[in-house]
Amino acid sequence: MKTILVTGGAGFIGSHFVRHILKSYEDYRVVNLDKLTYAGNPENLRDVEGDPRYAFVQGDICNSELVNHLAQRTDMVVNFAAESHVDRSIMGAEAFMHSNALGVYTLLDAARRHGVERFLQVSTDEVYGSLEEGEAPWTEEVCLDPRNPYSVAKASGDMMARAFAVTYGLPVVVTRASNNIGSFQYPEKRVPLFITNAIDDLPLPVYGQGGAVRDHLYVTDHCEAIDLVLHRGAAGEVYNVGGENEANGVEVTRKILNLLEKPEDLIQYVKDRLGHDMRYSLDSSKVKALGWTPKHDFENALRLTVEWYAANEAWWRKIKKSSGYRMYYQKQYGGR
Ligand code: NAD
Ligand code: TYD
Repeated sequence: MKTILVTGGAGFIGSHFVRHILKSYEDYRVVNLDKLTYAGNPENLRDVEGDPRYAFVQGDICNSELVNHLAQRTDMVVNFAAESHVDRSIMGAEAFMHSNALGVYTLLDAARRHGVERFLQVSTDEVYGSLEEGEAPWTEEVCLDPRNPYSVAKASGDMMARAFAVTYGLPVVVTRASNNIGSFQYPEKRVPLFITNAIDDLPLPVYGQGGAVRDHLYVTDHCEAIDLVLHRGAAGEVYNVGGENEANGVEVTRKILNLLEKPEDLIQYVKDRLGHDMRYSLDSSKVKALGWTPKHDFENALRLTVEWYAANEAWWRKIKKSSGYRMYYQKQYGGR
């Protein structure tokens, strides 16, 4: 048996990855270390709770004692744990520096001390900065140019991972993916927020003129790429994971409204995000050369996502009714 320490496994992408590993490898055990912040939700993994190959530990990746204890019995680490929402990082970035920078260091150090055979740091295209229309997609060679508190904290984690690979020869790999969509995504990110607002006939707050472009990746395609890089990626290397599904804010919003058969007058243009990155675009040839291809195009990915939120209202209504969510929503959108 091999043991993978998955951190942040109670969040959106991490929960899909835990499920993917348990389904794909009979001889793997998964230990899920998650602090259960506002974004961590044990309901995301109800279906695997009884699996004898799965264990949950509530705790912080910055807790060196706990992380060292777990690393003693760990073959591979996959780090999803992070503060993940740009708008929250603009309100205040302390938790982002804690989890996305110091947390990565704490995990890397424990992995080095205990001779972990693979460490995969899950990162984001946002560390590359912002592209203009017409500029070529980013390859892994371009310099990092993060521009908001979230992406700067993530870039710090990436740089520390690189330091451990170069300095200590720790077998680290890094993946940088574009915007994920799919089930179990906390409804603060654009796609699940707009789907759930539209179901309730509430306004969809589009920032600025809705011109910012994002690439979209279906969450299970992302998990397959992480699995591949974990097992076949070259130590010390970075792999971009994009869906080749670029769309701007207006296009994404219209598609969501069309799928739900809701009117376009739900669109409400609001004050733009501070320092809004205008375009992300990835060249994913390197991970494709390992044998990965995304199985979902944007239409398919978005349709499956809309269908899941329509069929699982209990999951998101509980979140949206909570006082924490309501306070955040008021703070973020109240004055816009
Ligand atoms: P998420 O916010 O849904 O989940 C994050 C999880 O990490 C939560 O379960 C939370 O409780 C946990 N966590 C946070 N801080 C922790 C800490 N200090 N110790 C232990 N657990 C902690 O995030 P997500 O969207 O699933 O993203 C997962 C990872 O993928 C992040 O590292 C993010 O930067 C990266 N990523 C996300 C996207 C995306 O589109 N969502 C794209 C590229 C990369
Ligand atoms: P988001 O889902 O927060 O992901 P990220 O900023 O990490 O790419 O935002 C995606 C895009 O949608 C981004 O251009 C900002 C925009 N956006 C809105 O227009 N309105 C919103 O309410 C949110 C949350 C995002």
